[in-house]
Amino acid sequence: MTPALNCPVLGFLCSLALLCVLLPQEVTSVPFPPGAARTECRGRYFWIWLDKATLGQNVWRYGVFNNVGQLIPVTEQVASQCGFTSDTDLHGNPEIRVSFLACSIQNLFDQEFSLKLQVEITSPADLTVAYDVSMTCPLGAPWSPREIVCEENYMEVSVRRAVPGIASEALNEDWIAVWPVAQGAVNQVWQVVFRFQNGSLQNMMATEAHALGYGVNTTATRVLFRTPYGTQQTEVSKVQGLEVAVARATVFYKQAWMILMVDTAVACPINPPVFTASALSWVTPRIMPSLVKFPDLYRDEAVEMGLDGRVVDAATVARNGYTFLTDAKFVSISVPIGASGGLTLSDVIDSSYGTRYSIKLLLDRRWQGDESDRTRHRSLKTIRTTFVPHVPVLINNTVPERGYFEVILGNFLPDVELVTVAIGGKPLTPEELESHGGKLAEVPNPNGTRAFNLMVPFDDPLVPQEYLHDNIRRYTLPLVYTLNLIPKNKPFIYPAVIECEVPDVVLPTVVGFCEERRISLVMTHGNLDRYWVPYVGNLRLTAEFAASQNYTVQDDGSRFYLSVPLLAAGLAYEDISLQGLTARLDFNLRDNKTLAAIVIFPVSCIFPTGKLLVCFPNGTMAATVLRLDTKPALDPRRTHLRDENCRPVAADESRALFSFPVATCGTTRRFEGNYLVYENEVTFKRELIPEAKPVITRDSQYSLTLRCRYPLNETLRVWAQQLLGGVVTPVPFALGARDPLAAYRRGRSMDGYVSFQMASHVLAGEALTPLRS
Ligand SMILES: *[C@@H]1O[C@H](CO)[C@@H](O)[C@H](O)[C@H]1NC(C)=O
Ligand SMILES: *[C@@H]1O[C@H](CO)[C@@H](O)[C@H](O)[C@H]1NC(C)=O
Ligand SMILES: *[C@@H]1O[C@H](CO)[C@@H](O)[C@H](O)[C@H]1NC(C)=O
Ligand SMILES: *[C@@H]1O[C@H](CO)[C@@H](O)[C@H](O)[C@H]1NC(C)=O
Ligand SMILES: *[C@@H]1O[C@H](CO)[C@@H](O)[C@H](O)[C@H]1NC(C)=O
Ligand SMILES: *[C@@H]1O[C@H](CO)[C@@H](O)[C@H](O)[C@H]1NC(C)=O
Ligand SMILES: *[C@@H]1O[C@H](CO)[C@@H](O)[C@H](O)[C@H]1NC(C)=O
Ligand SMILES: *[C@@H]1O[C@H](CO)[C@@H](O)[C@H](O)[C@H]1NC(C)=O
Repeated sequence: MTPALNCPVLGFLCSLALLCVLLPQEVTSVPFPPGAARTECRGRYFWIWLDKATLGQNVWRYGVFNNVGQLIPVTEQVASQCGFTSDTDLHGNPEIRVSFLACSIQNLFDQEFSLKLQVEITSPADLTVAYDVSMTCPLGAPWSPREIVCEENYMEVSVRRAVPGIASEALNEDWIAVWPVAQGAVNQVWQVVFRFQNGSLQNMMATEAHALGYGVNTTATRVLFRTPYGTQQTEVSKVQGLEVAVARATVFYKQAWMILMVDTAVACPINPPVFTASALSWVTPRIMPSLVKFPDLYRDEAVEMGLDGRVVDAATVARNGYTFLTDAKFVSISVPIGASGGLTLSDVIDSSYGTRYSIKLLLDRRWQGDESDRTRHRSLKTIRTTFVPHVPVLINNTVPERGYFEVILGNFLPDVELVTVAIGGKPLTPEELESHGGKLAEVPNPNGTRAFNLMVPFDDPLVPQEYLHDNIRRYTLPLVYTLNLIPKNKPFIYPAVIECEVPDVVLPTVVGFCEERRISLVMTHGNLDRYWVPYVGNLRLTAEFAASQNYTVQDDGSRFYLSVPLLAAGLAYEDISLQGLTARLDFNLRDNKTLAAIVIFPVSCIFPTGKLLVCFPNGTMAATVLRLDTKPALDPRRTHLRDENCRPVAADESRALFSFPVATCGTTRRFEGNYLVYENEVTFKRELIPEAKPVITRDSQYSLTLRCRYPLNETLRVWAQQLLGGVVTPVPFALGARDPLAAYRRGRSMDGYVSFQMASHVLAGEALTPLRS
C-alpha cells in the first residue's frame, strides 16, 4: 500500500489517512462460503455477484473499507457519488459494480486497484453476519486521455492530468468563459465551474461539490468528476431528437503562478429503449456536441457493442441476430426479444403467466475529436421488456382407442415448475398422479422451453363419465394445473376441461317373461348400468319399495332378476277385455343426475280376466261380472248399470265387461274426506214370467256396487299414502275382498272435478294365469 501516491491533492485528509491506517480494524467478518459470491475484474469495474439462492429471504447491505480501515456504508447517495452500483444480473442475483476510480479504492498509480467490501446479511430473525470481499484488479487496457462511463446511477469522467507540451491550438470559447472565474478563485483549492446552456456559470469549491453529491478527486495521473443523474447542475439536452444528460463541468486548481483547468464535461444518452412486439432497440446519438468541440474533426476509432460489461465480436452479434449499425447520426442496437445474450424469465401478474426479457447492453466507443482529444465512452444499459402475457397452450392429444387422456400444457421456461394437477377438484402431486395410474412427463422443446404431458386413464375414479346415447359415453377430465415460478414463488393456475366421447358402452340386455300372476324379467348387465337408477314406470325401484310391493329382486353381479306381482303398484294396465287384462311392466334405467330414462324395457302380459274392477286414472271405470257371482246363475248379457241403457261393452254367457266414464251411466259422486267417490251399480234385468201375477222371477235379485275412490290431495306423493287410492268396496254379491292397490300420480283439480292422469286401481278376482307373453 502506498498511500503517499494518493496524496497530492487533499493534503490534510491524506495525512489523517496515514495516521489511521496504522490502527487495527475493529470489524470482525469472515469470507463468503464457497458459491455464495463471485467476483470478477471486467472493464474498469470490480464485479461482485451474490448468489440469490444462498441469500434466500435474507436482506443484505454493504459497505466499503476506506484506506484507514473504516467501514463506510454504501447508501444510494454514497453509491452515485462514489462510483458504486447495485443491480441484479439477468438471473436476479444481486450484482455490485464498483468503478476502479470509486472512493476508498486502493489505487496503485492508476495501474492496480484493490477493493475491500463488507456485505452484511441479515436473516428474518434479525441475525446479521458480515462477509468480506477483497479484490485486486489490474488496469487492463491502458487509460485513454479521457474516459467517460455512463452507469445506471451516475456519469463519470476521468481525464489525464499530465500537462502536455505547448498546445498548438488556441483556447476555445469554453475555456475563455471559465477563465475569469478560475483567475479570481482562491489559491490552492480544487474548484468546479458548471456552465449552463443559457450561458451562465456556477462555481464552487470541491468540498461544496462533494456536499452536493458530486465526486471530485484526483488520482496519480487523472482528474475525476462524477455526477448522479438529475442534479441541479446537470441538464438534459436533445441531440438528433434523443435525450442526453449533460454536465458541463470544468475542474481547476490554482497555484500562485499557474491555473490547471481540466474539462470534465460528461454526457450520457438517456433516451429509453424502444420496444416492438418482437424486438427492442436502443439508439444513441453518434456525436454528443458537449463532448466534441469540433465535429468536423471527429473520427470514430471504434464503435463496439457488448453484453454484461464485455465487448462482443461481430460474429457473436450476427449469430445472436442483433443489428448493430452506426451511421452519420446514430448508433443503434436492435435485439430480437428472446435472443441469446439476454434472458427471458417468467413472471405472474394478476395471476396470469407471462415473460420478461432482459439484456445488459454495453456501448463502448473510442473517438478522436481533435488532436488532443482521445475519448473512450462507455454506456451500460440494462434493458428489461415489459411483461408480455403468454397464455399457456393446451394440446389435446387424446386418442379414444387408447383408453386414456393425453394432454400437453406448454410452453414454459425452465423457471416454471408444475406443483399439482387437480382432477375433479382433487389436487395430485406428480407422484400421487403416478400412483393413480396417471403419468406426467416433461417434454423439452429445442428452444429451451418445455411442456408437461399428462396422461390419465378414462376409468380413473376421478374422471366423471356420462352416458350419451347408443354405445357412446363421454369422459370428462376437469383439470386445474397449479404451477409456480421457482425462485420467485409466484404460483398460478391453469384450468382446463377435456372431454372425449368413446363408443365403449355395453348396454344391458333384457328378456321379459310372463309367469303365473307375475311379470318378470332378467337383465344381463352392461358396463355402465351400475350407475343408472332402476325404475318401474315412474316409481323408483328401491329396496323398500320392492319389499312393500312383494317384488322379487335378485342380482348376482352379472344378472339382475325382477319379478312383479300382477296387481302390485308400478304396473300399467293397458286394456281390459273379456279375453283378459293386459298389464305392462315398464322397467327403465335412468340417468343418476337428470333422471331421464336411458333405456326402457317394457314387458306386457295378458292375464285372463277374473272378476275385477279397474278405476282408470282418466276417469273410466271398468269391471267384469261373472256368472259365478250369483246364485242361481244369472245371464251376464242381461246386466246393466244404473242407467239401463248402459249395458256391457262385451259379454258372453259366463261374463260381462262394463267400461264407462265416471260422468255417465248414472254414476253418483260424493266427497268423502280427501276422496272423491264414484259409485254405480250392476244390476240384472229381470225376466218376469206372467206379467200380471204376483211377481215370480226365475232370476234372483242381483246388485253389485262399483265404487272408485280418487284422492283429492294434490300433494300426496308418499308411496305409503298412495295405497289409499281408489277403493272398491265389496257389496253383497261382492268380489273377493282384497287390499286395494293403487299407483297413481296426482290429479288436477278443476272446478271440483278431478281428472287423473295415471294409476290403475285394480281389484282382482280369482286366480289369474297368463295367457301369453
Ligand atoms: C480522493 O481520493 C483519495 C485517494 O483515493 C481518497 O483518500 C480521498 O478520500 C478522496 N476524496 C474524496 C473526497 O473522495
Ligand atoms: C441558467 O440555467 C441554470 C440551470 O438551468 C439556472 O440555475 C440558472 O439560474 C439559469 N441562469 C439564467 C441567467 O437564466
Ligand atoms: C419454443 O418452442 C415451442 C415449440 O417448438 C413453441 O411453441 C414456442 O412458441 C417457442 N417459444 C419461444 C419463446 O420461442
Ligand atoms: C352417476 O353416474 C356417473 C356415470 O354416468 C358416475 O360417474 C357417477 O359416479 C354416478 N354418481 C353416483 C352418485 O352414482
Ligand atoms: C380431445 O380429443 C378427443 C380425441 O380426438 C376429441 O374427441 C375431443 O373432442 C377433444 N376434446 C376437447 C375438449 O378438445
Ligand atoms: C305381500 O305378501 C304378503 C304375504 O304374502 C301379503 O300379506 C301382503 O299383503 C302382500 N303385499 C302386497 C302389497 O301385495
Ligand atoms: C281411459 O283409459 C283406458 C285404459 O287406458 C282406456 O281403455 C279408455 O278408453 C280411456 N277412456 C277415455 C275416455 O279416454
Ligand atoms: C294431503 O295429505 C297430507 C298428509 O295426509 C295432509 O297433511 C295434507 O293436509 C293434505 N292436503 C290436502 C290439500 O288435503
